[in-house]
Amino acid sequence: MEYETLEVNPISGAMGAEIAGIDLAQPLDNQAFDEIHRAFLEFQVIVFHDQKLDPVQCKAFARRFGRLEFYPFVKGLDEHPEIFEIRKEPDEKKNFGGSWHSDMSFTEAPPVGTMLYAIEMPPKGGDTMLTNLYEAYDALSDGMKDLLDKMTAEYSAALKHSGGRAAVMNRTPFAINLDRAEEASIHPIVRTHPDTGRKALYISAGHLTRFADMTEEESKPLLDYLRDHAVQPDFTCRVRYRAGTLALWDNRCTQHRALNDYHGERRVIHRITIGGGDRPN
Ligand code: SIN
Repeated sequence: MEYETLEVNPISGAMGAEIAGIDLAQPLDNQAFDEIHRAFLEFQVIVFHDQKLDPVQCKAFARRFGRLEFYPFVKGLDEHPEIFEIRKEPDEKKNFGGSWHSDMSFTEAPPVGTMLYAIEMPPKGGDTMLTNLYEAYDALSDGMKDLLDKMTAEYSAALKHSGGRAAVMNRTPFAINLDRAEEASIHPIVRTHPDTGRKALYISAGHLTRFADMTEEESKPLLDYLRDHAVQPDFTCRVRYRAGTLALWDNRCTQHRALNDYHGERRVIHRITIGGGDRPN
């Protein structure tokens, strides 16, 4: 189906689209929102450049996709606790979200999506890479699909699986809820998207510890294979930001990583997590 109110420009062959012709600071009528939502489902990540949004406007746009969810481990902005700042200063080496993961896959009902709004970007670098987990599933052999369709796995928040977050949390005065740091959930490794009905290989590399009912050692060879399989370049795209870029991705069929190729420069992004997701099945 064509888009009538938006200009939709795909970013890569696998996923992602930049959307032009829309000012998100203005009220969105239902047709415009329906088309944005359709693009979100079709491309898994949508990107809007040159927006001028304050936190209230960012939250209002995010709320069109679902209720706002608190990210458990980092304190939000004082006035807007549902927004937290991802900040890397010029003298820091480690970044937040720097290994492949799907946000909060360790929770029982992981978020629908994640929205990033770029406040300050380095002159070059600082992109987010994403991978399309529908394509990762579709590319598997029938035999592997049959095997995985029956399997469940553990997804854990434990910091040993999440080096970038550990580094940020060790230094930030905003680290909170450390008692939740061992939280884990069991999910099917193949999940069906509640809106599109498509199957996705639910790899959240930094959180995935083992198959349920197997040890980490037993699980490792197949999990390592799937982790590598899921991030083949042909399944990916990269989101490039400038100040005022808003990116929104579907956590139910993607994983992502923040690139760390801008040492000596500052990168500041506001993140909103969109909750109300299904229990993967
Ligand atoms: C994240 O994982 O939420 C961070 C992504 C980014 O900063 O690019």
